[in-house]
Amino acid sequence: MAPTAPLNLGILASGKGSNFAAIAQSIRQGRLQAQIRVLIYNNPQAGVRHQAQTWDVPAVLLDHRQFPDRASLDRAIVGVLQAHGAELVVMAGWMRLVTVVLLEQFQVINIHPSLLPSFKGAQAIEQALNYGVKITGCTVHLVELAVDSGVILAQQAVSVLPGDTPASLGARIQCAEHQLLPEVLQHFARGQFVITDRQAIFN
Ligand code: GAR
Repeated sequence: MAPTAPLNLGILASGKGSNFAAIAQSIRQGRLQAQIRVLIYNNPQAGVRHQAQTWDVPAVLLDHRQFPDRASLDRAIVGVLQAHGAELVVMAGWMRLVTVVLLEQFQVINIHPSLLPSFKGAQAIEQALNYGVKITGCTVHLVELAVDSGVILAQQAVSVLPGDTPASLGARIQCAEHQLLPEVLQHFARGQFVITDRQAIFN
């Protein structure tokens, strides 16, 4: 297969940044043909900003509290993404709702710590434990306006073990995320997805 140009990623994150690091590591190890062009984070204390430093990625703080509404925040996000040449946007621990302002300009994907459509929204791991499911996991999906509802691109199941706490189950789900998200991105990098109305098919 002819070599293709690396996929230019813009990452939105505001957690500790383990998924950011997993993407950066996959790029370094040659498993993902991509470049992280910019990190945007919305919480000044987010650990992910240290990951950006470690991996030498430009990081831009856009604190949502400084914007009058979601659309203005998204306009600023679009400006930063365009200025850094991002093509695909990855939400890796981004807890803000998006507007059409962002979705009209970019394809956006998200990683969520449950097997959607179960346990949407915040506290997905606690929701799964409270419900008593025996299997949960993580989902990579396209982002649309409704929360955690876009086309599912890939999922990885994780068993719930007796005595699991949110921390122990969350740690195993994150291990699955760190494998799944870079794999999905590599399919994008190679143009290997066909996305129809509700289906994503690997070529
Ligand atoms: C990830 O586990 C991701 O699934 C979750 O935030 C975490 C960020 O961790 N996202 C959501 O819950 C979105 N609804 P990280 O900062 O270590 O990558």
